[in-house]
Amino acid sequence: MGRVISLISGKGGVGKTTITANLGIALAKRGMNVCLIDADIAMANLSLLLNMQNSPITLHDVLLGEAGIDDAIYDGPAGIKFIPSGLSLENYRRVDPERLQSIIDTIKGRFDFVLLDCAAGIERTVMAAVSASDEVLLIAMPTSPSIADVLKAKITAQRLGSKPIGVILNFYRQEKGEIKKEDVMKLLELPVISAVPFDDEMRKSFMQDNLAPVMISKPNTPAAIAVQVSAAKLAGLPVQVEQQSQGFLSGFFGRLFSIFRPKQQAAKPNPVQGVQQ
Ligand SMILES: Nc1ncnc2c1ncn2[C@@H]1O[C@H](COP(=O)(O)OP(=O)(O)OP(=O)(O)O)[C@@H](O)[C@H]1O
Ligand SMILES: [Mg+2]
Repeated sequence: MGRVISLISGKGGVGKTTITANLGIALAKRGMNVCLIDADIAMANLSLLLNMQNSPITLHDVLLGEAGIDDAIYDGPAGIKFIPSGLSLENYRRVDPERLQSIIDTIKGRFDFVLLDCAAGIERTVMAAVSASDEVLLIAMPTSPSIADVLKAKITAQRLGSKPIGVILNFYRQEKGEIKKEDVMKLLELPVISAVPFDDEMRKSFMQDNLAPVMISKPNTPAAIAVQVSAAKLAGLPVQVEQQSQGFLSGFFGRLFSIFRPKQQAAKPNPVQGVQQ
């Protein structure tokens, strides 16, 4: 049975959608069967980032009982499956988010991971997604308001019976005044799975002429590498980082051995243990 994980935050704009897309692709590149669901039913953005905004049948239609779930599952990049949300405000008002539970129960047996990109805060669609999930992954910035709000999200998830498994710190800059990783762990009583740095390539991934998750366009930009670390940890796999155009290679050793490897020979996976974030 697949793991159903909601990505939640307190504050908006902390990178849930960006991390959902990249994490899903990173897991798929490691051989996992992944389904991403745009559970931000009011303000759907995930299809935009995946460049799949023209999908005709959406989660709205399924939640309204007007389409079957299989009609709303699309093929996304790197072999992921994707269930988009609709853009119509009128349909958003009419949908019953409580139906998410039975939809997820129907599909979770087909996947290793079902990731839900949630809205910010703890409003009704978030509660429905979290209730339908087994686990939640908290996304936060290393700042006091973000950590305070994500703590509320964590407590809400626990009340709804979904297990908080860790935190991904995003927009991490190691600046003076940021909350340190160790303090985040103490405050939230959860592991920090990885710290994703502020990365201009990631910022640009939502831009019109550049629309693509960095795991597709720039898999070895620092933010994408941090996401790959998160994916490996989540799946219990050794950490290995994709080198663009060469497939998977270990960091330092991969670069070293690639000097000796004949050009035509395919790179073999070579796990790097203990990569520090
Ligand atoms: N590590 C990063 N470095 C630079 N820019 C980032 C990073 N992560 C996300 N962004 C940018 O921040 C913006 C907000 O990201 P995103 O939409 O993923 O946040 P969100 O939490 O899903 O927002 P919302 O709460 O509105 O759904 C986007 O423009 C995205 O490209
Ligand atoms: Mg979002």
